[in-house]
Amino acid sequence: MRRILFLAALLLFPLSARSQTIGFAQVGAESDWRTAFSASMKQEAARRGLHLLFADAGNDVGRQRQEVRGFIAKHVDAIIIAPVVVDGWSDVLKEAKEAAIPVFIADRAVRADPSLYVARIAASSTLEGRLAAAWLAQATNGKCDVVELEGTAGSEPALQRHSGFLAVAALFPDIRIIRAGNGNFTTEGGRSVMTRLMSETNNLAGVCAVLAHNDNMLLGAIGVMQAAGVHPGRDIITVSFDGLPNIYRAMLAGEATMSVEVKSDTAPYIYDVVQRYLKGERSFPKWIVIPSALHTRADAAAMLERHGS
Ligand code: AHR
Repeated sequence: MRRILFLAALLLFPLSARSQTIGFAQVGAESDWRTAFSASMKQEAARRGLHLLFADAGNDVGRQRQEVRGFIAKHVDAIIIAPVVVDGWSDVLKEAKEAAIPVFIADRAVRADPSLYVARIAASSTLEGRLAAAWLAQATNGKCDVVELEGTAGSEPALQRHSGFLAVAALFPDIRIIRAGNGNFTTEGGRSVMTRLMSETNNLAGVCAVLAHNDNMLLGAIGVMQAAGVHPGRDIITVSFDGLPNIYRAMLAGEATMSVEVKSDTAPYIYDVVQRYLKGERSFPKWIVIPSALHTRADAAAMLERHGS
């Protein structure tokens, strides 16, 4: 009976005349990038008059799946998921499809049948990893022992930045990852994993670069290196991903070397696709790729200005 009343309401009150309700299942608030992305999603929803249901999963995929089920139960008009990890999504995506609610994947990818969602709107983490390795190969003449700080295990950017990096590094026999550890994309995680890696490598003896899967882990690691008398940015090349103001400040202070910028203000691209779909458009590429670029100290000041800081 409730379902019949709901369908009747939909027919009497066409979509174009209602405020659209969008459920957004966000990863959490683990990094500066995530905070900036959440802000972009909230501000742009308000600007477009969308009713946004925002759910922060606290980096817990089980909780995130439950939040998506909650959106399905509320019969939202569309669901956007930035998935914590790639696996474990098929059932909940099928439930959304059975309820005729379109799903859009933002930022990180899922490993599921692509017919279960409309499109993914996101940068290429593989390309980011490749860019990092190509830049490092050029900066070191193809010779560098690397220590890697990994993001959340099973998350798409941790998997793909690593494999993208390796794909290009494999062309250079003297570029090797000699140690790695997980820092979960957080500043604190970067601190603790770097503390362990420093003791395992005799304070990074012979190490030429630190590759961190995001800026926050690198910023945590920088403090640990400095406390041990190692000078990141001078004795050790640092490479990270995200390109947000704190890393440009670290570049200007001579403590960070290069970051691959991952755009965080992507809500306009995402809602465009969602709203075009809700208006009836059906032909979208499965993956709408947002471009990434890399930045060093040479353009750090300009990047800070672009971010208005
Ligand atoms: O999925 C994007 C990654 O997630 C960002 O690079 C990282 O900072 C965040 O936690």
